[in-house]
Amino acid sequence: MQPDTHRSALMPHEYGALAGACYLNTASSGVLPERSRAALEDAHRRRAAGRLTEQDFMPSLARARAAAARLVGGAVDEIALTPNTSVGLNLAAAFLLQRRAEGDDRPTIVASDREFPANIYPWLELERLGFRVEIVPCDALGRPDEAALLERIDRDDVALFALSAVQFATGWNADLPRFGAVCQRRGILYVVDAIQAAGVVPLDPRAAGVDLLAAGGQKWLCAPWGTGFAWVRRDHITRWRPLHTGWLGYATTQNFATLTSYDLDLLDDARRFEVGSLPFPEMLALALSIEMILEMGVDTIQVHVRALQQPLIDWAAARGVVSLLDDAHASGILCLRPPAADHAFAELQQAGVQCATREGVLRVSPHFYNSSDDIDRVIGVLDRVIPA
Ligand SMILES: Cc1ncc(COP(=O)(O)O)c(C=O)c1O
Repeated sequence: MQPDTHRSALMPHEYGALAGACYLNTASSGVLPERSRAALEDAHRRRAAGRLTEQDFMPSLARARAAAARLVGGAVDEIALTPNTSVGLNLAAAFLLQRRAEGDDRPTIVASDREFPANIYPWLELERLGFRVEIVPCDALGRPDEAALLERIDRDDVALFALSAVQFATGWNADLPRFGAVCQRRGILYVVDAIQAAGVVPLDPRAAGVDLLAAGGQKWLCAPWGTGFAWVRRDHITRWRPLHTGWLGYATTQNFATLTSYDLDLLDDARRFEVGSLPFPEMLALALSIEMILEMGVDTIQVHVRALQQPLIDWAAARGVVSLLDDAHASGILCLRPPAADHAFAELQQAGVQCATREGVLRVSPHFYNSSDDIDRVIGVLDRVIPA
């Protein structure tokens, strides 16, 4: 683990503009650090002045892939850049269709109830094409039922299992390797939506037995909208072709002098799954934001965030307010179910606290740039509006 002093030293420079704000809504979108904001501005200023060159494009993308690879303990050739999480998840649907075309006739896709819709619609759309989606009910607090999911995937009709590493409306942080062991033993495509985890919860998809992990950059990675990546287990890369093709995924197009020498020879790394031109200033900013997170260390960030959450968890316990967090499944997201959550939310907004309500709960999502003062402010408001 890296020392927390590095995080503290970065704050005035990268997050000076946050002073006075009480931003506790990273699960919706993260705050852009100064280095990424400046890189975007520089690219757009140079573009407006006709100073951008083609040399600006590819190195930015390469840097973003390298940063994403380090974040998930993967290799750079296993990373495809994407504009969001959804594009990465849909890639797994393409793998599934090709696997069936090769004769694998398992019909069932398993997911948990209460998943974010980005991790449900790609699978429901496959029902038109002969697959069946089975949504496993949650526990009484709306969190995935681990035992029921494990039992359901351990059967021979299951083709794909999709799970968020961290659930958006409960903060439930999945034990990814536990599901991965079953998926690997049964040859089930194991797909993880990691947008609510990447940057705040350590990820190691290869060790967890994951086949494809997708994340957008806009939340805990503190990167611009329009950025993200998919990590694809190496066995799948040369095995499957993209169903949505991008011209830059082919060998001949690497040389701009032979663009019209059409040839179906795909690149043999995950760039074959990237679909067309990507927003390179934003991808450079993604690289810079991930690099900053890696400088601090995700495990250090996780410890910081947990320490911030604790007083609010204690306050909820003392007041009999339901908290959806349990220690074994903690993440950056802390959800509380106070009486009249909407009223509490309105009062927090009125007091200048930015957080969210989702599915009837109050969602507070602090990151490395928050301090205990921010949490004190939340407790101060809740103390006032929630009867003891
Ligand atoms: C679990 C989860 N997946 C995906 C998304 C967003 O998907 P995308 O990046 O495709 O917009 C969100 C939130 O916006 C989310 O909470």
